[in-house]
Amino acid sequence: MQVLTTKENLVRQVEACLRQNKTIGLVPTMGALHEGHAALVRRSVSENDVCVVSVFVNPTQFNNKEDLQKYPRTLEKDVELLTQLGAHFVFAPSAEEMYSAEEMNTEFAFDFNGLDKVMEGKMRPGHFNGVVQVVSRLFELVRPTRAYFGEKDFQQLAIIHHMVERSSMKDNFGDLQIMDCPIVREASGLALSSRNQRLSEEEKTIALNISKTLFASLEWAKTATVAEVEKRVIDTINAVDGLEVEYYEIVDRTTLQPTTTFQNAIGCITVYCGPVRLIDNIQY
Ligand code: PAF
Repeated sequence: MQVLTTKENLVRQVEACLRQNKTIGLVPTMGALHEGHAALVRRSVSENDVCVVSVFVNPTQFNNKEDLQKYPRTLEKDVELLTQLGAHFVFAPSAEEMYSAEEMNTEFAFDFNGLDKVMEGKMRPGHFNGVVQVVSRLFELVRPTRAYFGEKDFQQLAIIHHMVERSSMKDNFGDLQIMDCPIVREASGLALSSRNQRLSEEEKTIALNISKTLFASLEWAKTATVAEVEKRVIDTINAVDGLEVEYYEIVDRTTLQPTTTFQNAIGCITVYCGPVRLIDNIQY
């Protein structure tokens, strides 16, 4: 496996692969890899001739400087894991390599068709502009056949589908297929996240109440309305010492707009466990 740190070297390798008609799988990550990422990489390795994993903590998608500073960075360990998993290339550029000074300091313009106005987008203004900026750049550099994303960041995934399938940028990406990959959970139910590394053992136990409540809500949904289920989920989690719900919204899976039925619905939640912001979701 080769670690590449410049766009020029990456493009050279990609062009060599494309000349040989090889299919390329891309797994974009911000590093601090866990079993959830490993599942994406395994799938990419098994479905493509070549697997490229990007490891880049993208500064333009952080609207909170402290969150960016505290984001775990474990490149050496990540490279070890990716070698074991059979990835072929790791692309780990610096911010200066990825962006010009102007790009770093100007919000990336993109028409989200309203997908950025709810939930994560509402709480973290500009976050998805940064995500689209980095993901579109990675797609243009790597020219993947398939790109793999976890369903834990469901709104991000919906926005990436929009970018590739319906937005004015869609022609830049050829026949790229976006591969949705299910949430990977610990045996306890806790959704895997790089941010879990910042939880103490006690906080991890407390955080279990998030997935436990979401699973229980599948039962509640059999006899209650959407509004009642939303309220019960929020009240149940807020009743746990150490947890505070930022939002819980049951929305349509495609439009991400609030819905009053459980058909094609997904419940998306963000909860603070101490200072750590955790997200999860459940499909009804
Ligand atoms: O989901 C993530 O880890 C990031 O948002 C992504 C897609 C790698 C872009 O920086």
